[in-house]
Amino acid sequence: MQISYHGHSVVKIKSNSHTILIDPFITGNGQTDLIASEEKADFILLTHGHNDHFGDTVDLAKRNNATVIAIFELAEYVESLGINVHAMGLGGAYDFEFGRVKFTQAFHSSSYTTEDGETIYGGMPAGVLLTIEDKTIYHAGDTALFGDMKLIGERNDIDVAFLPIGDNFTMGPEDAAYAVQLLKPQIVVPIHYNTFPPIKQDPQKFKNLVDSAEVQVLNAGDLVQLKRD
Ligand code: NI
Ligand code: MN
Repeated sequence: MQISYHGHSVVKIKSNSHTILIDPFITGNGQTDLIASEEKADFILLTHGHNDHFGDTVDLAKRNNATVIAIFELAEYVESLGINVHAMGLGGAYDFEFGRVKFTQAFHSSSYTTEDGETIYGGMPAGVLLTIEDKTIYHAGDTALFGDMKLIGERNDIDVAFLPIGDNFTMGPEDAAYAVQLLKPQIVVPIHYNTFPPIKQDPQKFKNLVDSAEVQVLNAGDLVQLKRD
């Protein structure tokens, strides 16, 4: 399995059989190395509806005939555009062909703004736990620090955690470093920073605050270096 980071909150997972894109914000993302018209995906996972996460979902899904996995209300909207969806709710897991997906809580909001300026309600914002080929990946989505990250850490043996550090809209470096203590992942990758002026951060500052996990600061296109076990 290959897990790669592509700027902002974009994560790509290539399993033996499938390609999964999380929060594929490509067009307008100055931090990404991806080209929307060339990307392939079998599944697209959305943590919430905000445009810097929803991104190129519609074009990618239509061109690849991909299935979009999202929280119920957001999935309903995507389905109304003629796209295959799989709707889920917080705390529920489902075994897909590529592995297991479980949405977790996130303290944030969730809406999608159309080109016409209409605001679509997106249901609850979420994080996501993926279990693929014996690895557990946690993508926190956009969230504040919350105490039940401890519960997520106790009930899951997280190999890789993608945590926002940008501040302003989500956790900043200090809160994200505290989140690492609660989640107890082996590897942490900081995300959701430097894309826009309000979320400018130095990821090395975050790295210096963390001593209980290995922090991998990745450039767009870099692979997570998975531990062998
Ligand atoms: Ni957001
Ligand atoms: Mn965001």
